[in-house]
Amino acid sequence: MEVRNRVEVMHGVNLDQLGRRDPDHYGSFTLTELEMGIAEAAAELRLATRFFQTNHEGDFVEHLHGLEGMADAIILNPGAWTHYSYAIRDALELTKLPAVEVHLSNVEEREPFRRESVIRDLCFATVAGKGRDGYREALTRLAEELASTV
Ligand code: DQA
Repeated sequence: MEVRNRVEVMHGVNLDQLGRRDPDHYGSFTLTELEMGIAEAAAELRLATRFFQTNHEGDFVEHLHGLEGMADAIILNPGAWTHYSYAIRDALELTKLPAVEVHLSNVEEREPFRRESVIRDLCFATVAGKGRDGYREALTRLAEELASTV
């Protein structure tokens, strides 16, 4: 039986600055620490992870273009691009992969512009406001989704 367990974890703009950003919203861990935790949680669920971060929108788009045959599912936190990048939305749609949107902070309870997500309807789940635990939840949701759609 074909194993579908490759999860691409994509972080967008400014997420490389975790550890320097407002700890009330983002915690005080670095991106490397976050990714170590994600990889550990993924291993427990028998999922394989690959990580990508960029501050360049076109690179994020091109990375999505390159996922065909390379990943079975996506976890993405595009940072501020979430709220307005139709380019990222279109590229995500092209992948046709199951995706979960994650935000460390509670985007619903911050500035009004953060309530808008142009990718939300392309993702089968959204997890926000749960800090690093949100990624564990996203991985669990993806593991269930991948198992149910074999
Ligand atoms: C974020 C929320 C966005 O509004 C913000 O621009 C980010 C991070 C989050 O993880 O909470 O950069 O996506």
